[in-house]
Amino acid sequence: MSAGVNIASKETQREAERLFKILGGLTDFKKGTKYDMAFCLSAASITLEINRLKKQKNAVILAHYYSAPDIVYAVADYRGDSYALSKTAAKVMENIIIFSGVYFMAETAKIINPRKRVFLPAVFAGCSLADSISAAQVKELRVKYPLADFICYINSTAEVKAECDVCVTSANVYDIVAGSKAKQIVFLPDVFMADNIRVEMLKRGIDKEIFSFGGTCCVHDKYAAQDVNAIRSKYPQAKVVCHPECALPVCQLCDYVGSTGGMLKYVRESSARQFAVLSEDGIINCMEYENPSKQFPRVSRTCAQMKRNNLHNILAALRNLPHEAEVKVEDAAAKGAKKAIDKMFERGA
Ligand code: 13P
Ligand code: SF4
Repeated sequence: MSAGVNIASKETQREAERLFKILGGLTDFKKGTKYDMAFCLSAASITLEINRLKKQKNAVILAHYYSAPDIVYAVADYRGDSYALSKTAAKVMENIIIFSGVYFMAETAKIINPRKRVFLPAVFAGCSLADSISAAQVKELRVKYPLADFICYINSTAEVKAECDVCVTSANVYDIVAGSKAKQIVFLPDVFMADNIRVEMLKRGIDKEIFSFGGTCCVHDKYAAQDVNAIRSKYPQAKVVCHPECALPVCQLCDYVGSTGGMLKYVRESSARQFAVLSEDGIINCMEYENPSKQFPRVSRTCAQMKRNNLHNILAALRNLPHEAEVKVEDAAAKGAKKAIDKMFERGA
């Protein structure tokens, strides 16, 4: 009995050391300090159990980069931005997908790979963009703009996707809009990203009329142009980087504007040493992980819905496969949404 306890505690100790190697240089935004050994010791028995249960249940974990790094780097099998994860979801062979993200992401995985059981540990985690427009509103817009190509951001519900022609993510939006045969585009539901699309089309010399309805991301819409000016005075050496869900005047003041994957690439490939990133905390953790010698003064914000995923509810989802965490998509919506998503894969890079 005592030998068993010793073996278990040695295994936990080894796991805590593994976790500390991964997390030691990263910021724990809940505390504002770096992850420490005490955190790793408390997480070790949970990550061990998650990694054991994944094999036993033939499950994989997909984690959006905005998830906390103890998920992204210690238990996830695949990590990425929403475009990369949607491509990954299509190829999953295992029976169960545990999705660390928000509802529209897990729902997209289910639509793309319907034979898999998909669970969202942060049950019904919402997104201010996906919640900003309904399928009924899109139908009304269709009547108003009969000639337009209806392009929806992946941050939308299955019902909204089903009413649109093609889906996009921040990684492929400009190329898909540019490649549309229609002169009129109705872009839903991110009105700030639509402003960025208008500017990009002008830059490319492409004549499009862009209409947009819906809302904004409640994380990225908090930044204002004066924040960028204040950041530049405080960190004159820093490259200032943001996501195109930020307002146009913010984007126009930044050194780089791009998708989550695009920002990671920019930071990885830049010779600059310091980056002020106007986006979600999780991406800063990924940047810290990939670029231990670069500095990231904190200007990021927290997406509270993304951060509802944690090691505890991931373990519970794997262990119990709870009904309330399982993603179900009604057939008609799934069929319509799949068409829009498949068109993205056809038309996008
Ligand atoms: P990405 O498409 O860049 O992964 O962004 C998803 C998201 O929710 C951004 O706020
Ligand atoms: Fe939605 Fe914004 Fe959170 Fe992304 S960061 S999931 S767009 S609320």
